[in-house]
Amino acid sequence: MRLRRVFGHYPTGVVVVAALSDGEPYGFTVNSFTSVSLDPPIVGFCAAHTSSTWPRIRDAGAFTISLLSVGQEQVCRSFAAKGSDRFSGVEWSMKEGGHPGIDGALAWIDCVLDDCHLVGDHELILARVVSMTTNDVDDDPLVFHGGRLGRLCAGTLATASGNARACRGSPAS
Ligand SMILES: Cc1cc2nc3c(=O)[nH]c(=O)nc-3n(C[C@H](O)[C@H](O)[C@H](O)COP(=O)(O)O)c2cc1C
Repeated sequence: MRLRRVFGHYPTGVVVVAALSDGEPYGFTVNSFTSVSLDPPIVGFCAAHTSSTWPRIRDAGAFTISLLSVGQEQVCRSFAAKGSDRFSGVEWSMKEGGHPGIDGALAWIDCVLDDCHLVGDHELILARVVSMTTNDVDDDPLVFHGGRLGRLCAGTLATASGNARACRGSPAS
């Protein structure tokens, strides 16, 4: 599909959205995650109508978003695979909001569901941030680009003018 090919030129981070629903952990890999509003703090992402996991998380009404680090490629893959026990092979723990977060992630964002909109073949989800924790690991984010998972060039981000700049430094002015 052409749109998919075009969006292959747009790199994103990767998160796992997870919740405890009826005492069971549910989670899935998402790259459509974005910040929507700073005040009040609102984030958003899209879930396909075909997702069997999203309805369980929606029913829970709250969830934790784990921002994956570059070493978590396997986590990304297993939380996108159908029919596997996604939580059995990974280290995870309950976060402040009472929902599961993936250990070793760069940060965890606890959210409550605010609004869902049916948009074409996806649901657009808006969620209010209730708490956040950052990990102290000195790691880069996992990046999804051109259908592949990878890292920002060895911890540096080259500016358009070609100067290398530390990933975690101040943004280019
Ligand atoms: C890198 C990557 C990003 C993904 N991003 C999304 C996304 O933004 N929204 C979505 O609904 N599914 C996304 N998926 C697919 C889901 O992770 C998952 O495969 C799908 O929801 C099927 O599993 P389920 O039936 O348990 O939900 C992504 C998969 C990968 C590998």
